[in-house]
Amino acid sequence: MKKSILALAAIALLASCSSSKEEQAQPTIKGAFQDDFLVGAAIDVPLIMGEDPKADSIVALHYNSIVPENCMKSMEIHPEKDRYFWDEADAYVKYGQDHNMAIIGHCLIWHAQLSPWFPYDENGKYVDKEEMKARMKDHIQTVVGRYKGKIKGWDVVNECIEDDGTWRHTPFYDILGEEFLPLAFQYAHEADPDAELYLNDYSMYKPAKRDKYVEIINDLKKRGIRIDGMGMQSHIGYKSDDPDLSEYQAVIDTISSTGVKLMITELDISALPFVMEGANTDANFELTEELNPFPNGLSEERAKEWNDRMTQVMALYKKHADKISRLTWWGTTDAMSW
Ligand code: GLA
Repeated sequence: MKKSILALAAIALLASCSSSKEEQAQPTIKGAFQDDFLVGAAIDVPLIMGEDPKADSIVALHYNSIVPENCMKSMEIHPEKDRYFWDEADAYVKYGQDHNMAIIGHCLIWHAQLSPWFPYDENGKYVDKEEMKARMKDHIQTVVGRYKGKIKGWDVVNECIEDDGTWRHTPFYDILGEEFLPLAFQYAHEADPDAELYLNDYSMYKPAKRDKYVEIINDLKKRGIRIDGMGMQSHIGYKSDDPDLSEYQAVIDTISSTGVKLMITELDISALPFVMEGANTDANFELTEELNPFPNGLSEERAKEWNDRMTQVMALYKKHADKISRLTWWGTTDAMSW
């Protein structure tokens, strides 16, 4: 059975509590969580461009918010220093407007899928501080400015902290030091003062990483710089200790203690074993029986384990709905997920 169908089954239980007539006729995921938080998915270019009616029918029915999988990353939207590419991002925003959805921007400053020209001068050396600030400002303000008033909130900085709580060595950090982060938030805020601004990262359940983000959020707030939310990506496993949900409880508690909302930004639960930790979109692995023991469909046992896990995860988030503003699945179906 497909996980996406299992997800609907798991969520149908929660949906049955919903009271509206429309919901009784056709339970939807957004209806199940209408009093809790926004729900949505990361959507890809074929869906955005109207080439995937099946995925479109799921997203349009079940979700009230969307995130662009790739089309707003710098490599896609700003491929050359003096050239932006708007076609897909414009279509993404229009899709959200046509469906009356909360439209999320993802992501402004990230070391991965970064336009290759971004940090370098004509000799292939890192640009100096002033030039890096100018490039960040131009990139952020051009992109945020174009969609001013249309995007509910932006992932301003993605994945800037290592699991041990130290700053990740990215071109932004290596050229500008820690100040690149408040600067990015300041540039985004200047371009659209009404947009919400977020941080986003994986492995938030690791205490050193979580605590570093608490420190960063508190520091931004102390300096009067707008920050509205912290995204916890959540590409997790089907086993109950991968990670243990008590660790997510700790993230909910500590992040909400700063006064910002937590967002579950990239949820997917793998029914298969993981081969690596963290996010590396360039990684490829040979398909072996160990990696996919279910070439002809999940066993009943694994399907139950997966279903139980999704139900427990959703119950935890529903219980803490006052501290969570959005839940986004990474991809519309298994085919687009990790
Ligand atoms: C990170 C990014 C996402 C996506 C995934 C890989 O989590 O934030 O945009 O690229 O990696 O699927």
